[in-house]
Amino acid sequence: MTRNRGSGGRRRARLGILLSGRGSNFLALHAAIERGEIDATIAVVLSNHEEAPGLAKARSLGIEARALPHQGMRRRRHDAAMVAALQEAAVDWVCLAGYMRILTPTFIGAFPNRILNIHPSLLPAFPGLDAQVQAWDYGVKVSGCTVHLVDQGMDTGPIVVQYPVSMEGLASAAELSARILEQEHRAYPAALQLLLSKDWQVKGRRVVFDD
Ligand code: GRF
Repeated sequence: MTRNRGSGGRRRARLGILLSGRGSNFLALHAAIERGEIDATIAVVLSNHEEAPGLAKARSLGIEARALPHQGMRRRRHDAAMVAALQEAAVDWVCLAGYMRILTPTFIGAFPNRILNIHPSLLPAFPGLDAQVQAWDYGVKVSGCTVHLVDQGMDTGPIVVQYPVSMEGLASAAELSARILEQEHRAYPAALQLLLSKDWQVKGRRVVFDD
């Protein structure tokens, strides 16, 4: 059983953030780092879209940000380019923050148990796209968000934290999305700092922390 602790305790963990859109979770991670709540530094922000607003936000914060467009590229080649860019930036951890691409096994194998994702539902309910709309349409009374390690399935990796939200008083899926997003911005930094600061192991489907 491999024991884990962030970057091995040697130095501040270096993060690579992958995003495809607005980048609010990236900004939440950045803000938490600035407040001293996460022992990490953002080494690089990568996107498959040149126009992703999250890239512009990263640049305005002085963080290295690169677009590696995927159009016209086979998934394996694009993933190899992403992995090369992450390795060039000497990244220890990869944080998916609204990155709308499925990772190849080769990508996942390059960072074993070091890729995190945030998903806007209480997994295993409502995996995949438009989780908030799925939850709203289903009529559940509680939803929320999940931070999990990434494995080869779609939103199936071992869960690190889940933050619930109540549906009470909500009138639409859009309102639910906003309520979940507030919790995402708390959950992602908390999950990352847990993994960086504690000893932990993956046992079956579980992330087990040694207290
Ligand atoms: C979030 O809802 C996240 O849970 C999902 O994609 C969305 C990204 O939003 N994976 P943002 O770009 O971080 O604002």
